[in-house]
Amino acid sequence: MGIFFTKKLCYLFIILSCFTSFCVTPSVSCFLTIPWFIQIYDGIPNSTISVHVKSKDDDLGFHNITYYNSYSFHFCENVIHSTLFWADFSYGSKFVHFNVIDDKVMEIIGGILFAKSHAYWLMKEDGYYLSNKSRAYDDPSWILMGKW
Ligand SMILES: *[C@@H]1O[C@H](CO)[C@@H](O)[C@H](O)[C@H]1NC(C)=O
Ligand SMILES: *[C@@H]1O[C@H](CO)[C@@H](O)[C@H](O)[C@H]1NC(C)=O
Ligand SMILES: *[C@@H]1O[C@H](CO)[C@@H](O)[C@H](O)[C@H]1NC(C)=O
Repeated sequence: MGIFFTKKLCYLFIILSCFTSFCVTPSVSCFLTIPWFIQIYDGIPNSTISVHVKSKDDDLGFHNITYYNSYSFHFCENVIHSTLFWADFSYGSKFVHFNVIDDKVMEIIGGILFAKSHAYWLMKEDGYYLSNKSRAYDDPSWILMGKW
């Protein structure tokens, strides 16, 4: 009886910590949360864009992306606390800072519970664009979200 009770408590603790802590996982397997996959493309010919993604708990470091290449990361969406990753981008003398995933982005993109959800960002000369599909850079369905 005692052992079963301890096991139950242990299981409950694992569930609770999964809900309350929010984990960047190496593989996309999320327990009772939405796995999100974020990919950021450099759509500016001959450019090298510096990307620095952060959240309250994680600093994903500096990464350089070049034309046609991308930087990606994934995480499990916390169902209790709202998820927020922001990023600093720069190339040449241009600079921009925006939330790569937050409630607003999730609302636009739409997340399916327990299914893998994608957010794609495309950095272009005139600004940054969002989509829930990996599209050609000139596809008109990219949504312009802001400017450098
Ligand atoms: C990119 O660089 C190459 C080689 O320097 C040059 O020939 C080409 O015109 C450049 N393209 C753009 C769009 O700047
Ligand atoms: C990114 O590129 C710049 C300029 O070439 C370089 O100084 C920097 O070390 C690079 N950063 C990374 C993380 O590779
Ligand atoms: C996301 O996908 C759905 C279904 O394909 C589509 O209706 C919606 O417009 C898409 N949103 C964006 C921002 O691409």
